[in-house]
Amino acid sequence: MKPQGVLIAGNWKMNHTPKETEVFFEKLKIGIQSLDALAKASLDNEQIRVCVMPPMLCLQTALTKTKNMKVTIAAQNVHFEKKGAFTGEVSGPMLSELGINTVLIGHSERRHYFGETNETVTKKINSLLSQGFHIIACIGETKAERQHQETESVLKKQLDAIISDQALSQSQSLVIAYEPVWAIGTGLTATTKQVEEAHGFIRSVLTNKFANKSGNIAAQKISILYGGSVTVENFADLLHCENVDGGLIGGASLKPENMIEFIKIAARSSS
Ligand code: PGA
Repeated sequence: MKPQGVLIAGNWKMNHTPKETEVFFEKLKIGIQSLDALAKASLDNEQIRVCVMPPMLCLQTALTKTKNMKVTIAAQNVHFEKKGAFTGEVSGPMLSELGINTVLIGHSERRHYFGETNETVTKKINSLLSQGFHIIACIGETKAERQHQETESVLKKQLDAIISDQALSQSQSLVIAYEPVWAIGTGLTATTKQVEEAHGFIRSVLTNKFANKSGNIAAQKISILYGGSVTVENFADLLHCENVDGGLIGGASLKPENMIEFIKIAARSSS
């Protein structure tokens, strides 16, 4: 049993049009209605939480389709400024007016393809926390960094950027997603040993950071998700790992039937 329950977060990336979004949620709704009593109760009491991150253009459709469902709709990115001359960007106030209160920040694709750095990640997190958002913040090492035994130093630097004083005081609004870059979209999942080592390290960094604040309790309460080629085949094993509080799921989250399966797996693993 995970103290903070299990979070199943689906990151669609640049997939699904608004029409496909409608179809997805219609199927997801039917799937959720046909879950067994245990899984339904876990959703109702939020022992299992489901979050879906469609592209910006599909957020409104997703919100409309999930009005009466226990599913959180989140954005995959946001700018740190509230408005201004930032062509192509979307701000916190725009998202919150729509009804979005959760955002993914610092995904490795944002870092690698769009030049995001630990510095921009810090700015985004601080700005969005002060605007009242919940944040899922991503960290993870590249293949070369792992090969050079730099995994822990990279994770530490990324966590230093994320856990500012602001984040320390609003830790209840923070989720960390550990995604080894070499495992994303590659079919290569980290081994359970690698996952436990990385998640244990992340938990220890969090515990140190909170040492002078609310201490252990706040650090323990932060969910740490694993991401990187999560599938319905490997999710149960990943959930059994210590300090894994759910999954950030890309490719496999695009099919509603997989999301239903992830819910069932989470329900079985927490029973
Ligand atoms: P993947 O993506 O599950 O397709 O590997 C995970 C992610 O990038 O969040």
